[in-house]
Amino acid sequence: MAQAATDVRAMFDRIAGRYDTANRFMSAGVDVLWRRRAMRLLLDGVEQSPWVLDLGAGTLDGAVEILRQRPDAHVVAADFARTMLVAGRRKPRAAAVALHAADGHRLPYRDGAFGAAFSGFCVRNLHDLALALAELRRVVRPDSRVVFLEFFRPVRPRSFWDGLWTKRMLPLLGWAASGDRAAYRYLPESIQGFSTRAEFEAQLRAIGFADVSGQDLFPGGIASLVEAR
Ligand SMILES: C[S@@+](CC[C@H](N)C(=O)[O-])C[C@H]1O[C@@H](n2cnc3c(N)ncnc32)[C@H](O)[C@@H]1O
Repeated sequence: MAQAATDVRAMFDRIAGRYDTANRFMSAGVDVLWRRRAMRLLLDGVEQSPWVLDLGAGTLDGAVEILRQRPDAHVVAADFARTMLVAGRRKPRAAAVALHAADGHRLPYRDGAFGAAFSGFCVRNLHDLALALAELRRVVRPDSRVVFLEFFRPVRPRSFWDGLWTKRMLPLLGWAASGDRAAYRYLPESIQGFSTRAEFEAQLRAIGFADVSGQDLFPGGIASLVEAR
């Protein structure tokens, strides 16, 4: 179960200024490649000048990658932690992104407003996942693709070294890079409290996505991509 919504929002607002540094440091830069791959999948075959939603857009790394690959896209970045959005504003292409402080459980968009949607490392934080996924499905057109990039709970118990890395080293690295210990203790806890990829895919099918598939991006499934339409 994710932490209370206000706690999560306050935590992201607090770490916004150092979020990118911590991310690059902890992933050794691989998160950039993960987003590139996610957006190639998301944008494959999408129409001209598509409206694309980035839910939980944070410091806009995903949103600007969409524009790098598709300069004709209209990109909307929604996140309930306004400070995260503001922290990304100076990135190349960010000026072309519409920034909306919005909660994923109640999106301020009409039905079928978007031709594609992405959500990177956000859904694990939602306190009512079923509600937010239904809301995401509502705001994309029925034939549209939604792509998630996420850390899911591993299927098998972690090996000693994997557990040491995830539970001990990652929080320490995050703490060192961001100066915020609690935020980076939350990372392994939220992964452990979340769905496996298979459970998440089943949930997407249950709310009406007909075509759902996923792939692990790293041996051991450290991060995964899930595509639904
Ligand atoms: C780990 S960050 C990921 C940011 C960005 N997508 C990335 O790939 O770097 C998760 C983001 O999801 C946002 N978030 C969490 N719960 C949310 C909710 N209920 N509504 C909107 N945004 C939410 C947080 O504020 C945070 O910016």
